[in-house]
Amino acid sequence: MKQLFIQDISKTYGKKKALDHITMELSPGVYGLLGPNGAGKSTLMNIIVGNHMPDSGSITYNGKDILGGKTFFRNVLGYMPQQQGLYSQFTGYRFLTYMAALKGIKRSETAQAIEHCVNMVNMKEHMGKRIGAYSGGMKQRLLIAQAVLNDPEILILDEPTAGLDPQERIRIRTMIANIAQEKIVILATHVVSDIEKIASEIILMKDGHVIAKDSPIHLGQQIGKTSVATLEDVYMYYFEDGGEQDADISK
Ligand SMILES: Nc1ncnc2c1ncn2[C@@H]1O[C@H](COP(=O)(O)OP(=O)(O)OP(=O)(O)O)[C@@H](O)[C@H]1O
Ligand SMILES: [Mg+2]
Repeated sequence: MKQLFIQDISKTYGKKKALDHITMELSPGVYGLLGPNGAGKSTLMNIIVGNHMPDSGSITYNGKDILGGKTFFRNVLGYMPQQQGLYSQFTGYRFLTYMAALKGIKRSETAQAIEHCVNMVNMKEHMGKRIGAYSGGMKQRLLIAQAVLNDPEILILDEPTAGLDPQERIRIRTMIANIAQEKIVILATHVVSDIEKIASEIILMKDGHVIAKDSPIHLGQQIGKTSVATLEDVYMYYFEDGGEQDADISK
């Protein structure tokens, strides 16, 4: 049974508590990490993928420690960072070949791995073009392709639809839902519609805290008075005026 166990993780930058005692257990499914700017989404992802160390806490995958980026974990991990410089002179194909080498995929298996993930993101006809000539959506799809090159068990996607038009958003959303089978997928966004339909669970983060974690339907039931609220309503309830935060202050 695949299980990612995040236990009591805290991280401070200067005086800023980016993560404050985060604990969660993740089994295969799509987790939508939802929260406003600065909530701590990217920080949590950076710690899971081994780019940053937390100040305290532990993370294990199937019972084994993964903090700091262990080789066994890297082999089953796919990551698409929020900000990424792409080699604009490279063709898409060259970029993926390069990424395959970095990920330690055998040369004899590289062509097949690339073909598989390129088909997955519908980028076959663009592989010979320079990345500099790609649209924003094509770049995002190429980044998703590199994240799934090694057929990962855990897929971490930090704002995969940032800057995309609605059509491209929907394409990418569908693509992620298809890729997600049997994997632990964590997808950070502040766009509710990116995850409303595909997430099995929503993790709401604010100021370094997890303020709710449940299926979209349960979250909707908890705040809906007469009927199930939409995830957008849930977001507004927790993050905008009139939400729980204000209600507490007025007591
Ligand atoms: N390297 C860093 N140095 C200093 N402060 C940082 C650093 N990385 C993150 N922070 C701070 O930690 C907090 C959490 O940032 P983080 O990037 O994790 O948020 P986020 O939820 O991903 O936001 P966004 O939606 O804007 O991507 C913010 O207050 C941010 O300014
Ligand atoms: Mg972020």
